[in-house]
Amino acid sequence: IMAQTEDFYFQYKKCNFVSSIYTREHLEQLELFEIRDSDVFVVTYPKSGTVWMQQIVSLINSDGDPTEVQNTQAHKRVPWIEVPPSNFQLRPSPRLNVTHLPYHLVPKELKEKKGKVIYVARNPKDVIVSSYHFHNHLAFYESSKDFSDFLEKFIDGALEFSSWFDHVREWYNHRDEFNFMYITYEEMKKDLRASILKICSFLGKHLDNEKLNTVLELCTFNTMKVNPMANYEKVPKKSNDGAFLRKGTIGDWKTHFTVAQSEMFDRIFQEKMKDFPLSFVWDQ
Ligand code: A3P
Repeated sequence: IMAQTEDFYFQYKKCNFVSSIYTREHLEQLELFEIRDSDVFVVTYPKSGTVWMQQIVSLINSDGDPTEVQNTQAHKRVPWIEVPPSNFQLRPSPRLNVTHLPYHLVPKELKEKKGKVIYVARNPKDVIVSSYHFHNHLAFYESSKDFSDFLEKFIDGALEFSSWFDHVREWYNHRDEFNFMYITYEEMKKDLRASILKICSFLGKHLDNEKLNTVLELCTFNTMKVNPMANYEKVPKKSNDGAFLRKGTIGDWKTHFTVAQSEMFDRIFQEKMKDFPLSFVWDQ
């Protein structure tokens, strides 16, 4: 177990970034990126279903043609705008993008209702568990002492992209500034077909039944789990156990949180999210 080093993160406008990946220069520049109406931005707090949505928008965009999702890694098809170097300004339309940025750091033109934002949220207890395993899995993250230590960091907003509470609340509160669609991981789990149709309609795309079925099949957990292009297979790992597509379920937090931790989290959640009008699904 590595100890958390002082310079593992740097702060840029109140948000934590991993020093070995991000740069201030790039974060500064991207706020000025020119946005086209056809640009699509998938926005998530990490571990909320990012790669899943990358897969869905790729397939909607290709009209169900699987070639790209089977041959190109997720981050090349639908790149993170905050990861330098970025070829954002050179890519042909329509540009599919993904970002974990809080609302106040994204390209300013998005707030002039250029482009489209699909915000994916997930119940935070499952986000914590997924993130805990992810940090223990990938080589460039520092592992936590134990789950309780990780939980504390999450609640304090001490991990990358800072506070989950602020991320979700602020994006949602500012939704009217954007062409904005909100969807949850749990909604996608419950009815993937309806979720894909909802996304198609937001993107102004129509898929006939056959194509819809193809997209559906290629977006299930089991299909994606065996697709190396969706599974971070090339990113260095601490060990070979575990996988990026780990469980893909609702409610795995119950096997990690003690009753006391869960009650403590509920209290904090209620306090921090008291003005948030939407509810989360915590159970299968
Ligand atoms: P778990 O660790 O709970 O399994 P992100 O892409 O934002 O990093 O989120 C990763 C989480 O989304 C992981 O959760 C992963 O298994 C889950 N996931 C990815 N693709 C999925 C799919 N097709 N269906 C359900 N869950 C999926």
